[in-house]
Amino acid sequence: MRIPMDSRILHDLSDHYDSFYLYDEKTILQRIQALREAFPEVEFLYSVKSNPHPEVLKTMLSHGFGTDAASLGEVLAASRCYEAIGDHEMPDRDRIFYSAPGKSRKDLLGAWQCAAIIADSPGEIRRIEEIAAEMDKKISIGVRINPAYTIGGTAGTGAPAKFGIDEEQFFSILESSGHPHLRINGIHVHLRSQMLNTALLINYHNYLFDMADRIEAAIGAPLDYINLGSGIGIPFTEQDREVDLSVLSGALKEHLRRRKENGKADTRIMIESGRYAPGKSGWYVTKVMDRKISRGKTFIVLNSTMNGFVRPSLVEMVRHLTDDPAPAAWEPFFTGLDTFQFLALRSGDEEVIPAGASEDGETVDLVGSLCTGVDVIASDIRMPHLEPGDLVIITNAGAYAAVMSPMQFASMEKPAQIFLAEDGTIRS
Ligand SMILES: Cc1ncc(COP(=O)(O)O)c(C=O)c1O
Repeated sequence: MRIPMDSRILHDLSDHYDSFYLYDEKTILQRIQALREAFPEVEFLYSVKSNPHPEVLKTMLSHGFGTDAASLGEVLAASRCYEAIGDHEMPDRDRIFYSAPGKSRKDLLGAWQCAAIIADSPGEIRRIEEIAAEMDKKISIGVRINPAYTIGGTAGTGAPAKFGIDEEQFFSILESSGHPHLRINGIHVHLRSQMLNTALLINYHNYLFDMADRIEAAIGAPLDYINLGSGIGIPFTEQDREVDLSVLSGALKEHLRRRKENGKADTRIMIESGRYAPGKSGWYVTKVMDRKISRGKTFIVLNSTMNGFVRPSLVEMVRHLTDDPAPAAWEPFFTGLDTFQFLALRSGDEEVIPAGASEDGETVDLVGSLCTGVDVIASDIRMPHLEPGDLVIITNAGAYAAVMSPMQFASMEKPAQIFLAEDGTIRS
C-alpha cells in the first residue's frame, strides 16, 4: 500500500493539525477522466452529499459534472459553485437535479428556479401542482420512480421503499389529469450504491431503459432526461475489483443506438455518482497522543477517531455485535469488515508502513480520546511500535467520511479538511 503523495506533506501538515483529512486532486481527476472516457454520451451528476468540501465540489463541477442535490442547501451550494467558476454553459435548472423525499414548501419554493425538481411521491406532485397553480405557471418536473424490479432479482418484483413513486402507481398518475400545471419530463431511479458487479449494473440499466420506453409510450413523447441514478462502486478491500466501465458502457451504447433508431436521440441520459471520483482520493490522518499498557494489552490513544472518522469505528461496532464473517452492507455507514486499511507514519520516517507489515510490530487497540469505551477504531491490529507524535493514516476517506462523522461530540476540535491540488498547492 503506497500513498500517492510525498510523506513530507503529511509530516508538515501534522505540525499544524492533530487530525486531518487530505483530499488528493490528482486521484479525483484520474477517476473523472475514467468515467468521461468510458461514457462520452452520458451526462454525469455529482452527488454532493458524498463530499461537499468546497474544493472537491469545485473540482467535480468544473470538469463538466451536473449536480445531484439531496437538499436545498446542496442546490444552493452547487449554484454558487457554478457561478464562482464562471460556468454559464446552461441554466442551473438544466444541470442541478434536486431529488429527496419529504421536501418542504420552503425547499420547493427555494429550488424551483435554480434546479430541476424531482418529485418523490404522489403527495409531493400535488404540492408542486398547488404551488404552480398559485404562481399561474406551468412547471416541468421529474419524478423519482421505485421500479417493479430489485437488484439481482427479476422484473416484476419491486420492493416497498420510502423513495419515489411505485412504478405501477406512476402509470395511473400519468393517466390522471390532476396536475394541469405540471409537465413530467424526466425520470430518476436509484436503487443501490456500491455495486462492483458489472453484470448486475447492466441488468439494472436494461430494466430502466425498458421502463422508460413504456413511460414514453404512455406519455406519447420521448422523455427529456432519464437519470439512471448511481450504483457504480469503488474497491474498498484489497480483493475488490473495479467495475468494468468499458463493458458497462458497451451495454449502454446499445440502448442509445436503439433509442436513436426510434427517434429518441435527444433524451439526455444521466448517471449520478458520489463516491467514484473522490472516494479513493481521501486519507484520514490522526496523531498518536499516548500509549499505555493495561493488564497486558497495549492501547494507542489517537487524537480523533470515532468523532473524526466514524465509519472505521462502525466496522468495530459490527464486529462486536455479530460473528457473521460477511455482514450485509448498510451503505453509506457500513460497507464491509475490511473496508479500511491502516498505515503508520512515524516521526522522522519517510516510509509509510501498512498494518501487519512491520517486523518490529506489536498487537494493539487503536482508540480515541473520547470519554466512551466504544471509541475504538481498530482492535487487536498489528502496527509498528508507535509513540506520541507518530501518525496513523486510514484509507478510503474521500466520500461519506468527514461529512458523516459526529464531529460536534464532546466539543473536540474538528479534523481539518485539506485539499492537495494537482499543482502541489495546499488549500483548506
Ligand atoms: C439518489 C442517490 N443518488 C446517488 C447517490 C450516490 O451514490 P454513490 O456515492 O454510491 O455514487 C446516492 C447515495 O446514497 C443516492 O441516494
